[in-house]
Amino acid sequence: QLADDHVPVEQLLRSPLQPAQHAGLPAPAALYGNSRRNSAGLDLAVPEQRAPLLAAVAALRATGVPAVHEAAAAQAAAAMATLAAAQHAWSEQPVGQRAAVLRRAADLLEARSAAYCALLAVEAGKTLPDAVAELREAVDFCRYYAAQADERLAEITLPGPTGERNTLRLHGRGVFVCISPWNFPLAIFAGQVVAALVAGNAVAAKPAEQTPAVAAAFTALLVEAGVPADALALLHGPGETVGAALVAHPLCAGVAFTGSTQVAKIIQRTLAAGDGPIVPLIAETGGLNAMVVDSSALPEQVIDAVVRSAFHSAGQRCSALRLLCVHEAVSDGVIEMLAGAMAELRLGAPGELATDVGPVIDAEAHAHLSRHVARLEREARLIARSPLPAAHAATHIAPVAFELAALEDLREEIFGPVLHVVRWKGPVEALVARINALGYGLTLGVQTRIDSRAERIARLAQVGNVYVNRNMIGAVVGVQPFGGEGRSGTGPKAGGPNYLPRFCAEQTLTINT
Ligand code: NAD
Ligand code: ALA
Repeated sequence: QLADDHVPVEQLLRSPLQPAQHAGLPAPAALYGNSRRNSAGLDLAVPEQRAPLLAAVAALRATGVPAVHEAAAAQAAAAMATLAAAQHAWSEQPVGQRAAVLRRAADLLEARSAAYCALLAVEAGKTLPDAVAELREAVDFCRYYAAQADERLAEITLPGPTGERNTLRLHGRGVFVCISPWNFPLAIFAGQVVAALVAGNAVAAKPAEQTPAVAAAFTALLVEAGVPADALALLHGPGETVGAALVAHPLCAGVAFTGSTQVAKIIQRTLAAGDGPIVPLIAETGGLNAMVVDSSALPEQVIDAVVRSAFHSAGQRCSALRLLCVHEAVSDGVIEMLAGAMAELRLGAPGELATDVGPVIDAEAHAHLSRHVARLEREARLIARSPLPAAHAATHIAPVAFELAALEDLREEIFGPVLHVVRWKGPVEALVARINALGYGLTLGVQTRIDSRAERIARLAQVGNVYVNRNMIGAVVGVQPFGGEGRSGTGPKAGGPNYLPRFCAEQTLTINT
């Protein structure tokens, strides 16, 4: 039995890898092994798969989320020295061995799906479908980067003149600092850390303050899978102290950061300030993501895509839709249908099957979003608001849509279930130019039945991910490599083939034979 109400979460998180015991759950290693298939996750419609998940949520609610110890800035500095000392031995392991560690981590994670999903629901407020999707993404990152490491990090022999042998080698840079956000506390944390590790780096990981327990559980799992304990340090604490100390440390050889654009800029300034090496920054940041709907679009398809993209996950995705641009010829109909769909959304507790929209992450986010909504109530036209049960008023923001006079009225990312709608007319090229001018570049949705127009918009748009005639969230590892440009990030794309080499240094060896 995987879980019942009496099994403490610590035990669930440490259960041995024995898939056969996990009745009802897919046996990961047997089914998927080391193949390139994405993780199957859990099917919530199947009672045998759903039951252990609900039991794990109940158990965790009863015991509470395990506490963690916060580090001080001085401990962060000490950890960097230990990591630097351990990095060489880890980097000297053949890349295939490091990749095997990631595959073991994927199998362990999949075998403990229920416990990790419960942590995501209880600590991060995720709905069950979001928790399952995030678990799958984390598993996929481990397997995908393992496969990429085998392929992309192997030594290459280069053609050269007779009497000379030329070889190109990729190796770890040293200690990589990985700083992650709370909105994907497992998948993004895991993706950064395993990529840096498999590339041969030691890792100092600084998870978001709001979601320490899931990071602690996954770090322990990585050590169990074979990462040397001294090559991976987990440092909890405020970004302004612990994160800043790691980034400023002279032994920091690279930074992988996912979070707000503002903090990415602070990190960039810190890295530029030192006199030492030039330290690379991989930054994946916020978005002010638009969807362009033309007059040929299918209204039912538009509404489904808008509701999923703007309101699911309580709008707490960097990819989420913020700015819906509807052609004026169809705007009245689309807006009316949108209001109807929003009335059907069910706000509820995370971890419950009936919940469409869960809470926002914390009281600070709630207050920030409430202030933004209050300003829009004064300055924009309210289109619709989903019903907010009184029991959830302090923790949830009701999905809400406002019509703005111009898209330029929105300048900064609003990280919650608030949709801004504008009507447009005239050439679509002019609309795309105005969206580009906002300076972000993460996702763009396009709804049109004219293929050539979709293609033209995609070519003009300065964004990392374009989604045509579907929702614009939930990029799949290895299928939709994800990441933006401009104020949205530096690239390379997570879950894509160009990611791992950015965690490496390269050496060309020329031998006169
Ligand atoms: P945040 O920028 O506030 O914090 C992110 C991380 O940075 C946290 O671990 C935090 O402790 C740390 N941090 C804060 N100040 C720091 C400093 N001075 N030095 C070093 N580290 C510091 O972001 P958040 O609120 O946790 O997450 C939400 C943001 O993340 C949104 O803007 C969202 O769009 C973005 N995000 C982007 C992607 C992407 O792939 N592009 C994915 C998820 C989230
Ligand atoms: N990768 C996440 C998504 O695509 C952020 O929604």
